[in-house]
Amino acid sequence: MKILAIESSCDETSAAVVENGTKVLSNVIASQAKIHDKTGGVVPEVAAREHVNAIMPVIEKALSEAGIKLEKIDALAVTYGPGLGVALVIGTSVANMLSLVMQKPLIPVKHIYGHVYAPWLEAKKGVQFPIMSLSVSGGHNELFLMKGHHDFEVLCETADDAAGEAFDKVARLLGLGYPGGPLIEAAAKKGDSHAFVFPRASFSDGRLDFSFSGLKTAILYHLQKNKSKLKDKKFLADTAASFQIAVIDALTSRLFMMLDAHHEVKEVHLTGGVSANSALRGAIEHGLKIWNKQNDMKVIFRVPAQMAYCTDNAAMIGAAAYFQYQKSPEKYKEFRFVEPKASFA
Ligand code: KG4
Ligand code: ZN
Repeated sequence: MKILAIESSCDETSAAVVENGTKVLSNVIASQAKIHDKTGGVVPEVAAREHVNAIMPVIEKALSEAGIKLEKIDALAVTYGPGLGVALVIGTSVANMLSLVMQKPLIPVKHIYGHVYAPWLEAKKGVQFPIMSLSVSGGHNELFLMKGHHDFEVLCETADDAAGEAFDKVARLLGLGYPGGPLIEAAAKKGDSHAFVFPRASFSDGRLDFSFSGLKTAILYHLQKNKSKLKDKKFLADTAASFQIAVIDALTSRLFMMLDAHHEVKEVHLTGGVSANSALRGAIEHGLKIWNKQNDMKVIFRVPAQMAYCTDNAAMIGAAAYFQYQKSPEKYKEFRFVEPKASFA
């Protein structure tokens, strides 16, 4: 089954052709990062205008790179939310129109589930359930227990800000640019992660949700206190490294606590934009090696096969859509208008 998938929830316009949820025939991404770098973040109206300009050329390129005509596509898929309303409306409008005109099923996909399905793309070995899936992006953080396809139990979620958002905000405070994640990661490589101790938030009521707003504030105070050092490269690198390790500790501590409670898990997945971070990957890989040894287990660690599948892309939407369709194909037989949904709260 070949699916043409469309993603336009934030600042990437993307279209992909994915076969049976795993084989990527094309994955075209038009990024607006350079435009938003000038304003230090995404301006929704600017993002919307860029999506309008990019969407048709990106779809045409995805079809031509896959070597397939639109008539031969079996179904369409589109991210319908959450995300920027003005951006989502462009992807969903085009998908609705193509579905209606071409008489093809349209599969609406939640953006977060797209990220969760990124490890299925070009997966080397067959993916095995149950899976503990940590999805870390600019807009969300979730730790899911997946017992089967599209069977998600939320173990931990974002109480306030997502980790990627914290990376972006701290990068801005440090004067590094946008998007912050890769820039902080590069700066942190030259710094000492023990130079400063920043808070790892936890809740007094015992819940294990993620919280990064206190960490952001701590960095702000730290920079205000050390105003004279803001041009000192070593100070900035040490701050970036100490911030990054605080985020990594917060994420990995929850992951391993939950793994202790779920010995049935066969694989640990790390997805979302922040999964591109090599220090985070390294920390989980190392931690899992020790955990496996201590518990006499063989839990596998899996990340998306390519960096392009970590940050926003349409191929992951095509993967999630395929497995969603397989669960109940009859749902998609008749045309149903897909409405964009900015928030699920
Ligand atoms: O998944 P994504 O592309 O978009 C959302 O769904 O939010 O994630 C984007 C986020 C940004 O906040 C960006 O700073 C972060 O992922 N990111 C990284 C890295 N690459 C991207 N964070 C840490 N380290 C990276 N290498
Ligand atoms: Zn995303």
